[in-house]
Amino acid sequence: MISTQDRYAVFGQPIKHSKSPRIHQLFAEQTGQLLSYSAQEVPSELFASSAKTFFAEGGKGLNCTVPLKELAWDFADHNTERAQLSKAVNTLALQPDGTILGDNTDGQGLITDLITNHKIALLGIRILILGAGGATRGIIAPILKQSPQSLTIANRTVDKAIKLAAEFHSLGAITGHGFDDLKKRQFDLVINATSASLSDQLPPIASESLANGGTCYDLAYADKPTAFVRWGLESHALKSLDGLGMLVEQAAEAFFIWRGIRPKTRAIIDLLNSERGGCNH
Ligand code: ATR
Repeated sequence: MISTQDRYAVFGQPIKHSKSPRIHQLFAEQTGQLLSYSAQEVPSELFASSAKTFFAEGGKGLNCTVPLKELAWDFADHNTERAQLSKAVNTLALQPDGTILGDNTDGQGLITDLITNHKIALLGIRILILGAGGATRGIIAPILKQSPQSLTIANRTVDKAIKLAAEFHSLGAITGHGFDDLKKRQFDLVINATSASLSDQLPPIASESLANGGTCYDLAYADKPTAFVRWGLESHALKSLDGLGMLVEQAAEAFFIWRGIRPKTRAIIDLLNSERGGCNH
C-alpha cells in the first residue's frame, strides 16, 4: 500500500486566526512524525456532516473549538471519563476498530501550564473561577483533583454557577455564587473563564479579591494582554497570564492521543510568546 501522510484538522468558527496548525506542525517536526494538519471553518449546523466526511475520507483526528465542543461530545461514539464530566470534546480520534473516541484535553492543558510551566501548586489554595459556561465545565474536575482548599465559581447568572457547583459537588470543595458574594473574600488564583475578554470586557470583580502574591489566569489569549490580564497586573498579581501556554499544552495532549508521542512544549510556547512580544510573564 502506498503510504500517505496522516490527516488531522481543527474545526471551528471563526478559525482563521487559529494557531493550532502551526503548533501541530512544530510538534510533527520535533518528533519526526509525518502528518498534515489544516484549519477548516465549520458552522455548528454543518459539524456532524463535515466530521463524518473528514473521517470517511481517511482523516485520523480532529480538534474542535468554539462553538463545536458540545456537538463533538455528541458526535463521538464513546468519550473518555474527563470528556464525559465536561460534556465537551476538543479532540476526536479514530480508533483501530473504526469508532471515534472523544476526549477533552483543555483541563489537563491548563493544569500542566499552571503547575509544570509556571510552578503554581494548586494544593491547599483558594481558587476562583469567573464564568459558568462550557469553558468552566471543562476545567473543574482537573482542578478539584489537585485538592485546592476551595473552588469558588462566580457568574453573572447566579443560578448557572450554583447548578454547576452542585453537579461537581462529589469531587471536592466547590461552591457557586454571584459576583456580589465575593466581597471581602480573597483568592490565591483567579481564573477568567468568561467570554468577556473576547470583547475586551471585564467581569465585575474588585482588586481586593486577589490575595497578596496571587496569580491571575485568563483562559483566552491574544497578541496583546487581554482586559483580564491587564486587570491582574493592575491588581498587583505576582503573575498575570493568558491562555497561550494552555493552548500549546492541550495541543500536546491531543498529539499524544493521536500519535502516542508527547512533544516537548517549552520551546514552542517560548517561540509563540516571543512572536507577540513576550507578554506572558
Ligand atoms: P464558553 O463555552 O466560552 O464558556 P458560554 O458557555 O457561552 O461560553 O459561557 C460564557 C460565560 O461568560 C458565561 O458564564 C457568561 O455569563 P452568563 O452565564 O451570565 O451569560 C460569561 N460572560 C460573558 N460575557 C460576560 C461579561 N461581559 N461579564 C461577565 N460574564 C460574562
